[in-house]
Amino acid sequence: MIRFGNGEQIPVELHKVRVVQKLNLKPIEERLEAIDKGGYNTFLLDTKDIFLDMLTDSGTNAMSDNQVSSMLQADDAYSGSQSYYRMESALREVFGKHYVLPAHQGRAAENVISKVFVKPGDVIPTNYHFTTTMAHIEINGGKVLEIYGDEAIKIKSSHPFKGNIDIKKLNNVISEYGVDRVAFIRLEASTNLIGGQPFSLANMREVRDIAKKHGIMLVLDASLIGENAWFIKQREEEYKNAHIKDILLEMCRMADLIYFSSRKVTSTRGGGIVTDDKNIYMKLRDLIPLYEGFLTYGGMSVREIEAMAVGLYETTDETVISQSPMFIKYAVDELDKAGIPVVTPAGALGCHIDAMGFLPNVPQEEYPAGALASALFIISGCRGMERGTISSVRDENGKDILADMELLRLAFPRRVFTLSQTLFLLDRIKWLYANRELVGGLKFVEEPPVLRFFMGRLAPLSNWPQKLAAKFRADFGESL
Ligand code: F0G
Repeated sequence: MIRFGNGEQIPVELHKVRVVQKLNLKPIEERLEAIDKGGYNTFLLDTKDIFLDMLTDSGTNAMSDNQVSSMLQADDAYSGSQSYYRMESALREVFGKHYVLPAHQGRAAENVISKVFVKPGDVIPTNYHFTTTMAHIEINGGKVLEIYGDEAIKIKSSHPFKGNIDIKKLNNVISEYGVDRVAFIRLEASTNLIGGQPFSLANMREVRDIAKKHGIMLVLDASLIGENAWFIKQREEEYKNAHIKDILLEMCRMADLIYFSSRKVTSTRGGGIVTDDKNIYMKLRDLIPLYEGFLTYGGMSVREIEAMAVGLYETTDETVISQSPMFIKYAVDELDKAGIPVVTPAGALGCHIDAMGFLPNVPQEEYPAGALASALFIISGCRGMERGTISSVRDENGKDILADMELLRLAFPRRVFTLSQTLFLLDRIKWLYANRELVGGLKFVEEPPVLRFFMGRLAPLSNWPQKLAAKFRADFGESL
C-alpha cells in the first residue's frame, strides 16, 4: 500500500501494462440471457459475456515480460528437455527440496499422492479441506478431518492466522485414531475455502514437531505459498524483516512433501510435487508416467515449464507477491466500512463476501452464495465463484451437507485488474447490497454426483433475476 497525501492507503500497481486484452461490458439484458443459459452457475458462463472475470486466480494471473520471453527458448523433447531441468533447478532453489515430480496441475498431484498414501479407513487431519483434495482422499477411502481453531470460520475476525491448525485437536486425532491410521497431516498455505487465510510459522513448527514425534508425514499444499509467506512477514513479529525467499524456505523445510498448483503459484498451467525424502519420491515416481506424462514434462508443455521456472523466482519478489493481497485488502476494507459482510482480515486469492449475512432472506438450502454470484453477474458483468453449499456434497440420505461458510469469492488474480475496475466492482456490490431483498434462491435442475459445482445447473426459485434487472435499469437509467 502507498500512502497518499490525504492519509489514504492505496494499492498502487507496481507494474506497467504492455499487452492488453479488450473487455466487453454488455447490456444487462444480455447478461440475464447468459446466466440463464449457464444454469445460474458462473462456471458455465462464456468470457465473451463477462466484464471482470473474478472466478479464480487459477491460470489467470498476469505473466511477466520475463515469463513470456522465456517461452521462446523452450526445448521441445519427450524426455530430457533442458526446459525441465531449468524448472527443476528453480524448484530446488525456491522450495529447497531435491526430488521433483511434475504434474499437469495441482489435482493431478493430489491424485498421485492420495493413491499412494491413502488407504481405506485412513484419516487426514488438515487446517481445512480443498474441494479437489477432499475428492481424491475420499475416492481412495480416506476421511478428511478439519482441525481449525475457533476463529477460522468466523466471518469477522482480527485473528492474523485463521489458517492455523488447532494443536489440541491434532493431538486428539492422533490419540483417537492411532498413528497408523493417520495417512499424513495436511497444511494448506493461504487456506482457500475459509477466505485465503494464512497459517503462522510458529503454528507450522508445532505441527511439524508433533508429526516428527509420531513419524507422521507432513504434507504442504503450497498452491498459495507466496501469499502465505507475505502474510507471515506482515503479521508475525519475528519475521517482519525477513526476506520472502527465506520465509518460504523455512516453510518448505518443515514439510516432508510439498505439492502445488502452478496455475496459482506462477500463473502457468502445471503443478508438481517436491520432497527431500528418496523413499517418498520412489513411492510416487512411477505413477507420473502412468497418469501425467514422462518425468521431464508431466503433462505440461515445455513453454509453460519455462515460464514456470521464471515465475517461481518471481514469487519470492515482494513487489510481485504483494499485489494481489493489497488489492484484496483495499476491497475488503472498503466493503467492511460500508457495512457489507465480508471475511476479515483480508486474505489471499480474493475478497470473500458472506452470502448468509448479505442475503439473510435466502435460506442456506436455497444456496445464497450461488444466488449472490448470479445476482452480481447480472448487475455488473463481474464473475465470482460460489464457495458454499453448492460446492459441498450430499450425505448418505441425499440431504445437502450445509457448508460452514457460504461465500461469494471474488478473485483478484495477480496484476490483472486496475484500481478503477476495483472501484466499479465495489460500486456495484454496494448497489446490490442496498437492493438485496430482490435476490431470491436457487435450486438444482441438473446435479452431477461428484464435484457438482463445476457442471451442475440451477434455476431461480422465482423471477427474481428479472425484477433485479428492472430495478437496476430504473436506478441507472441505462442497462450497463
Ligand atoms: N489446492 C489448492 C489450495 C487449490 O486452491 C487448488 C485449486 C488446488 C489444490 C488444485 O489445483 O486447479 O491446479 O488442479 N484451486 C483453484 C481455485 C481451482 O479456483 O481456487 P489445480
